[in-house]
Amino acid sequence: MTRSPLLVVAMGVSGTGKSSVGTLLAERLGLDFVEGDDYHPESNIEKMREGVALTDEDREPWLQTLTDLAGQRLDGGRSLVLTCSALKRTYRDTLRSGVPEGAAFFLHLHADHDVLSARMAQRTKHFMPTSLLTSQLQTLEPLQDDELGAVVDVEPSIDEVADAAVEAMLVQGVG
Ligand SMILES: Nc1ncnc2c1ncn2[C@@H]1O[C@H](COP(=O)(O)OP(=O)(O)OP(=O)(O)O)[C@@H](O)[C@H]1O
Ligand SMILES: [Mg+2]
Repeated sequence: MTRSPLLVVAMGVSGTGKSSVGTLLAERLGLDFVEGDDYHPESNIEKMREGVALTDEDREPWLQTLTDLAGQRLDGGRSLVLTCSALKRTYRDTLRSGVPEGAAFFLHLHADHDVLSARMAQRTKHFMPTSLLTSQLQTLEPLQDDELGAVVDVEPSIDEVADAAVEAMLVQGVG
């Protein structure tokens, strides 16, 4: 079956597995994978490394860069999995604005604070400190009814989470 190019955003707070699950999902679906964090200006990375939460102003140019990138990929006929925390509805609106109607699917990776902080604590080479998790959880606005996407529980293994993501996309007629 051929379908129009799709933007799958692996979203959620830090430690939910956006990078790990997103990579595997892209592999399974045969899509490009783009790590959204790679597009942060150094000033944003520095802030997060110091445990300072990013503001809307800090995120705006970064989100615009990701939106432009996604738009260009889809225009070129390429589908992709993009990691982006996309915590607020307005951030998701920005990402959606760059692609055709119905072409953005938000995969919200979800787990509670304790599961996530334990996972983050195991990482050694990542700029994100566990202290920022609480502020991210406070900022998070869940998907609303009119947003194409699904919530997947990330307590199971990465493999099982990727399976659940593929299934959730099929159920909604994408992927
Ligand atoms: N389902 C899972 N089961 C066990 N460990 C997991 C699972 N998902 C992710 N992990 C591990 O948890 C840690 C966090 O995952 P990952 O870096 O992919 O999260 P992230 O959402 O990209 O975080 P960030 O927003 O900080 O970049 C990693 O060490 C990863 O290997
Ligand atoms: Mg990541």
